Amino acid sequence: MKKVTHTFAYQVYNSATELADADRELLDKAKQAVSSSHAPYSRYHVGAAVRMENGHFFSGSNQENMSFPAGLCAERVAVFAAVSNFPDVPIATIAITATAEAFEVSEPVSPCGMCRQAIVEYEMKFGNKIRLILGGHSGEVYIIDGMEPLLPLSFHEDGLAK
Ligand code: THU
Repeated sequence: MKKVTHTFAYQVYNSATELADADRELLDKAKQAVSSSHAPYSRYHVGAAVRMENGHFFSGSNQENMSFPAGLCAERVAVFAAVSNFPDVPIATIAITATAEAFEVSEPVSPCGMCRQAIVEYEMKFGNKIRLILGGHSGEVYIIDGMEPLLPLSFHEDGLAK
């Protein structure tokens, strides 16, 4: 038996104003996407924006449903829009943010487990790392250089694709 320790490094910015222009602009697109959120049940409005390697942008917001499981998170709305429009183009970066009606979202919004799994699929498809920009309505912004730290030891059974 041996013990393995898994650590990862990520960048913490005090606020969005410290970001490089391209990253701040992508986070701004995610903030704009919040306005199209349909979240009458949670009253938590998430926006996501994707920059693809070919320079195209796609955004998405969470779409809830009165039959709760039928809804979808903002990240998957944005990612699926991107990859269904450009199936052969890798995703470069995803920015995520949120606002809530009942409180100030002052911490970075991190993708849920299902969204992590969905995003990792496209890292594996294209063999590239997808950068994440995680922000809140205010406060710090995290940048993570690839999905692996957010979904360590993720499922990848190569035989399934054969
Ligand atoms: N939500 C997202 O859009 N992305 C996440 O990564 C976590 C949660 C949405 C789902 C639901 O509409 C609301 O936020 C509250 O969970």
